Amino acid sequence: MTSKKDVYDQLNRPLRDLRISVTDRCNFRCTYCMPAELFGPDYPFLKKDELLSFEEIERLTKIFVQSLGVKKIRITGGEPLMRSNLPDLLSKISSIDGIEDIAMTTNGSLLPKYAKTLKEAGLHRVSISLDSLNDDVFGRINGKGVSVQTVLDGIDAAHEAGLLVKINMVVKRGMNEDEIIPMAKFFREKGHILRFIEFMDVGNTNKWRFDDVYPKKQIIQDIHEVMPLEPIDPNYTGEVASRYRYKNSEVEIGVISSVSDAFCSTCNRARISAKGTLYTCLFASNGHDLRTPIRANDTDEQLSSLLETIWFHRTDQYSVERSDVTIKKHKIEMSHIGG
Ligand code: GTP
Ligand code: 5AD
Ligand code: SF4
Ligand code: SF4
Repeated sequence: MTSKKDVYDQLNRPLRDLRISVTDRCNFRCTYCMPAELFGPDYPFLKKDELLSFEEIERLTKIFVQSLGVKKIRITGGEPLMRSNLPDLLSKISSIDGIEDIAMTTNGSLLPKYAKTLKEAGLHRVSISLDSLNDDVFGRINGKGVSVQTVLDGIDAAHEAGLLVKINMVVKRGMNEDEIIPMAKFFREKGHILRFIEFMDVGNTNKWRFDDVYPKKQIIQDIHEVMPLEPIDPNYTGEVASRYRYKNSEVEIGVISSVSDAFCSTCNRARISAKGTLYTCLFASNGHDLRTPIRANDTDEQLSSLLETIWFHRTDQYSVERSDVTIKKHKIEMSHIGG
């Protein structure tokens, strides 16, 4: 293994956070991510031998952590719990020295089954997506009629297993802005951190329009009118969410404002798709194939040097540059790199 060093890109950003997608499949069909009419029974999902194996993921993770300065791992999908034996991967990752934080982003539906095993395997925390507390609204958004209670059960299972829990709510104008206050009240009461995410132009299938974005400023104003808020400092440099706390309370919320208030200047995140392609931006058109060199038996030194070169040349700042031209570009789908 090559020695540990920090690598910086062309905008002087280090690499700290590695987000690993383990499957492109999901049991939901959220309208803003995998619209059912486009992700139907004939959709060419990846086949088993196209996916990186757990051993290949473990090897890459080790190189990212021990040679390139990564400290935080996030497992994503699609829905990561659709990948068989996922706790085995968590066991492998959690035994790598040098990782400070292991998280997973999930729709929560399978957590009642897996939360305890995941915690035992070394997972620290989960971000669970829930966009509404109203069954009709939520059933329409998730495209499968999944009930709110299914996700609430997942949230409780994660909490009971000892996993730290955050809730992610995508806010889209005309879809669920009326749900901001009920969600805020509910999770303030429960004591979980709720993060509001501006609807983003990820991929090319979700019919994104600028007018559908319900901006951070409006979200904060809506909540502040009912439950006064005060801003709080980020937990760490490069945190995606801006944080606020309810006055006279310990409970906080976050807003992720990729559209109205970009946070690219501190972006230290790399993403690997389920088939082993490395993307240096969520909105990238192209990635770097890592599966071929791994399967060609490249050494750790060769892989490490490839990754270093890729990060060194990185100039991505999509959200800063977003325009009528960029939104029409071909971009990788959210379900392939997990957000
Ligand atoms: P913490 O580790 O708890 O800070 O979570 P996180 O915000 O990094 O992860 P999560 O998967 O919960 O992401 C929440 C939302 O932020 C998702 O919609 C992501 O797509 C979005 N997000 C995360 N990283 C980036 C990024 O680098 N750029 C943009 N534009 N959005 C991001
Ligand atoms: N815009 C904003 N957030 C999105 N997510 C999925 N698609 C979009 C989009 N187009 C969210 C999911 C999940 C996280 C990984 O990204 O709801 O919480
Ligand atoms: Fe599945 Fe998450 Fe995409 Fe919804 S947002 S379709 S739950 S991967
Ligand atoms: Fe990072 Fe790209 Fe998101 Fe900017 S748009 S914060 S560069 S992933």
